[in-house]
Amino acid sequence: MLGIGTDLRLGNLARMLALLVAGILSMGQGTAERDDLIAKAMASTKAAMAAAEADPQRPTYHFRAPANWMNDPNGTIYREGWYHVFYQFNPYGDQWGHMHWGHARSRDMVDWENLPVALWPTWSKGEEHIFSGSTFIDQDGKVKAFYTSIGQRDPEQWTARPLDNELIRWEKVDQPALNLAVHGDTKVDEWRDPFPFREGGKDYLLLGGNTAGKGSVFLYEALDRELGNWKFRGQMFQHPDSGNIECPNIAKIGNKWVLLVSNFPRVEAFVGTIDFASGKFTTEHRSVLSDGSYASQLLHDKDGHVIHFAWANTSDHKGWNGWLTLPSELTLTAAGELRRNPIAALTKLRTKEIKLDHSELATGLDLNGKQIDANHFEADLEFELGSATALHLKLGRWNLTYDVVKSELSTSASPSVQVQKGSKLRLHLFVDGSATDVYVNDGEQTLTGRIAPGATEEGLKITSDGNATLAHGAIYNLRPAKFDFSHFN
Ligand code: FRU
Repeated sequence: MLGIGTDLRLGNLARMLALLVAGILSMGQGTAERDDLIAKAMASTKAAMAAAEADPQRPTYHFRAPANWMNDPNGTIYREGWYHVFYQFNPYGDQWGHMHWGHARSRDMVDWENLPVALWPTWSKGEEHIFSGSTFIDQDGKVKAFYTSIGQRDPEQWTARPLDNELIRWEKVDQPALNLAVHGDTKVDEWRDPFPFREGGKDYLLLGGNTAGKGSVFLYEALDRELGNWKFRGQMFQHPDSGNIECPNIAKIGNKWVLLVSNFPRVEAFVGTIDFASGKFTTEHRSVLSDGSYASQLLHDKDGHVIHFAWANTSDHKGWNGWLTLPSELTLTAAGELRRNPIAALTKLRTKEIKLDHSELATGLDLNGKQIDANHFEADLEFELGSATALHLKLGRWNLTYDVVKSELSTSASPSVQVQKGSKLRLHLFVDGSATDVYVNDGEQTLTGRIAPGATEEGLKITSDGNATLAHGAIYNLRPAKFDFSHFN
């Protein structure tokens, strides 16, 4: 007996040793493959940078990839004095494909340091893309990235751990944290874009997709501190009219939850409550967060404010694609309505202030291209609408019209939106190459558009049909954001 047992134990030991050696060898292979793929991705990106940089329509103070295609912001997080932004990135061209996670960090979300590509698809194992996801600090203070792994199989949710405190080099945990089996009998399609969050000491995860053709946000609860095992809690939210949901993100503001969902081609906000016992979200307010941008991500800044990023697409294929909307703070009014406004740190970009006097607009207000840098400026304008029926802003090819009668605002670069009726209108406008961001009435509505104003000599013209006045306002020329490449290798 003893002899057989000892033999078995020795046999087991030999097998364990063999497994360990194989593990170490394959780890070596994994590391070599990672280093090789990241080196290739970096070389390809660097080779494309000069051409991308030369395009005059490229935004200069919006965050964008060094070159080539980018889409969704991923894994936005504040940690140890740095704001990290990861993003969907194709290092190999200016069209969507070969999704990796690009990476940059910032002290203030205004000026950036570009960092090496963080996550790569492990092609040797059939993984084709690292899709969108989030980063999260576990209950032991360790950072984890959650992402959807795509290959010639069903999507899986995987995690990765940073190998250094700067979150620059990463290793993948060698098995998925969740696969479709977690749902038991519930059939889930288009399952992706994990977003973890913590409430009441418990860790939860959201994923987007659909079940039976209903756009859904699915809720999971962590079963371990390592966040490698999850229990399906059910469909937390069903979209009232969309067949699919991508990139769900959530944050608590006061005692309400703000749930953002990407329902192509827009981001929508649902403000409400979650009953964690039943795992159900109840909507109290619904709004379109920012027409013209997509695939939002949230972070909590160093003071706990909720900051929103999203992707604006360009599809021009000029050696680059896309940018992120300006970092904006989300707040709720006393009535629980969502507001989105540019963060205060963006005032660092201002180089010259042009104060505007109280002026009647029926005769028009002209700010010519000598006074303002018509391709890179911010305008903060407050209008008294008086007896006017419409207000017009014109900047080269870009137009904005406010129809006072219908309380409707439209631009030549974004769909029209409804604004609450009132005798005043505040427009906070940013123009940056081909990127425009408009915040209406202290963030009641926001528009993101893509149009290059073109000729700049004419500058900005403001007129009204009937009598409106500019009560007060200012225009600021804005400098480019700094993009530091000293760690981009
Ligand atoms: C949203 C999205 C995500 C997906 C990613 C792929 O734009 O479709 O759902 O993870 O892009 O790049």
